[in-house]
Amino acid sequence: MTTTTPGPRALHAAVGTARTRVEGREKVTGAARYAGEIPFAGLAHGWLVLSTVTRGRVASIDTAPVLALPGVLTVLHHGNAPRLHTDYIGMLGTPPDPAAAVFQGDRVPFAGWPVALVVAETPEQAREAAESLVVTYEQEPHSTVLTTDDPAAYAAAGHMPAETGKGDLEAELAASAVVLDEEYTTPEEQHSMMEPHAATAVWDGGRLEVVDSNQGAGWVRSELAALFSLDASSVRVRSEHIGGGFGSKGLRAHQVSAVMAATALQRPVRVVMTRRQTFSLAGYRSPTAQRVRLGADPDGRLRALEHRSLNQTSTVYEFVEPSAGVARVLYDADAHHTANHVVRLDVPSPTWMRAPGEAPGSFAIEAALDELAERAGVDPVELRLRNEPEAGPVSGLPFSTNNLAACLREGARRFGWADRDPRPGLRRDGRWLLGTGMASASFGAGAMPSTALVTAEADGSYTVRIAAADIGTGARTALTLIAADALETTPERVRVRIGDSDFGPAMIAGGSMGTRSWAWAITEAASELLERLAGAPDIPPEGITVRSDSTAALGALAQKERHSFGAQFAEVAVDTATGEVRVRRMLGIFAAGRIVNPLTARNQLVGGMTWGISMALHEEAVRDRNTGRHYSPDLAGYHVATHADVPDIEADWVDDHDPDDPVGIKGVGEIGIVGAAAAVANAVWHATGVRHRNLPIRPDRIL
Ligand code: MOS
Repeated sequence: MTTTTPGPRALHAAVGTARTRVEGREKVTGAARYAGEIPFAGLAHGWLVLSTVTRGRVASIDTAPVLALPGVLTVLHHGNAPRLHTDYIGMLGTPPDPAAAVFQGDRVPFAGWPVALVVAETPEQAREAAESLVVTYEQEPHSTVLTTDDPAAYAAAGHMPAETGKGDLEAELAASAVVLDEEYTTPEEQHSMMEPHAATAVWDGGRLEVVDSNQGAGWVRSELAALFSLDASSVRVRSEHIGGGFGSKGLRAHQVSAVMAATALQRPVRVVMTRRQTFSLAGYRSPTAQRVRLGADPDGRLRALEHRSLNQTSTVYEFVEPSAGVARVLYDADAHHTANHVVRLDVPSPTWMRAPGEAPGSFAIEAALDELAERAGVDPVELRLRNEPEAGPVSGLPFSTNNLAACLREGARRFGWADRDPRPGLRRDGRWLLGTGMASASFGAGAMPSTALVTAEADGSYTVRIAAADIGTGARTALTLIAADALETTPERVRVRIGDSDFGPAMIAGGSMGTRSWAWAITEAASELLERLAGAPDIPPEGITVRSDSTAALGALAQKERHSFGAQFAEVAVDTATGEVRVRRMLGIFAAGRIVNPLTARNQLVGGMTWGISMALHEEAVRDRNTGRHYSPDLAGYHVATHADVPDIEADWVDDHDPDDPVGIKGVGEIGIVGAAAAVANAVWHATGVRHRNLPIRPDRIL
């Protein structure tokens, strides 16, 4: 049922057609250069040194022996690094994370905190010197374990209100025929992007240039300009190809330390994080402890809904994993209460990670709905259909479109849900117990101001310049299709250049808002350019360029709830002798706005669903409570789903054109992971009759 509504410019309909990546050939032939491999003359290499203790102070750093080693150029640390300006509010609405604004003091707030940068002529020399640098610490007792009843926990807002509430919860629970009160936990999870963070900083004629791997070149530029008290126009950040980000690629220690060293040495300096370093320096998803209370009438209609989530943050930066937020969209109830709480521990700062809040939050609420369905004797798909909200349950605003019911019905039809026997633990295939499960999904669909430059070239082609980021999503290709339609031409005549802060302010690749935000600005510039061309058919050698700023036009979005929706279905096989869980098939049907490029959109959705399998069964960053450090912070110890773990996954969509968007887009970056882990966990219950409320569902938990 893949359908695509024609856009406003149906005459030229590149949008909606499947296209391989415009830079695909460069990527598979190695011609595409990533931040850590672009050559620079006179390049020096920095290696970060991280604290080995979890809380305390740096007592001494013995630099002399290291400075005598071959090739070593300098050692930067809190005793000699320049003072940064950190008293500002950045794009995320917070001051910079002190873990990124490095070397400003001797305090150590967590294990893996950056204490020094060793710079040498070669990466090998830098590493050798960094590993032999002797740092001594005054150690203090630490606390790194998230506990549900920690009295230091407090309600925290982050990017949404900390708490919402309406109605009398206890009264509605007392009046409910079916009730549920359960706790769900999810572990610390790591982004594990393929390309670790890398940046090269160089001063070029009074201008700072940083070649980096990030989710927003303009974002990193403004943060670096603020930190180093530079005029934004004297900083340029480029980020052309990015090997994954998932929320982790913003301002980090690598860029800041590279700029410090390039300034001190007056030569280009590159800093690349190792995989192990990313475990403490690149953010992560906080573990969560969530309590869900539900009360329903005999037919499953919700009278009471409470979703409370606790997450951790560091002692130096507040980040909220807003897991209770998804319940504010998916379900209404007469009494409806949600809250996000946070507790400060001696741990690294968590950050945005694909579907921040929705990924762990949907595990809890969608597993709870499955339990409610069981207790009420109502089919899980039917239960969700009966609880479809008319409008935003908390906001009261109408939905721009809410096609969750269409996703549920289409998904159930294609998955063969109607044949399902709801009783658990009955189906066998040899040594395997079989079960199926499902869950709903929702993720916000917004747009943020962006600027675009669109040029009509003298040869009849077009060049689009926008500080967008393609973190592997296919954004560059999607924008090519969007620009082609907006310019009433073919994709072959459009060149899209991205990843350069000199192209002007633009939304980051984040919040599933990148493509839509950039498309808005490109569409505006293109339509103005077409008007200009109609009046001036002769194009001068330098071309005709129009610059747009979408800020004013975005006001139209304010008056409605905007979300993508989805329905996830999974079939699992469980071996109760070994504890092994295999996902046999998975289907996701999404309502995610107009689909720009079916090929890369499907990749995004399947990628998210794959991550949901991984979240359900494998991923767990484990910290030793005695040392405060991770066990095995690498991809040997941190299990992610590999090809052998992933069956055929089908992702498809229903027609869902956002009526207020010039192209009809919502966004596909994050919705694929939402609900996916719950669908797997619900299927494990159906197979075995045992509820697993703590992720991941490891073999030892099955046994
Ligand atoms: Mo995404 S977690 O908004 O990069």
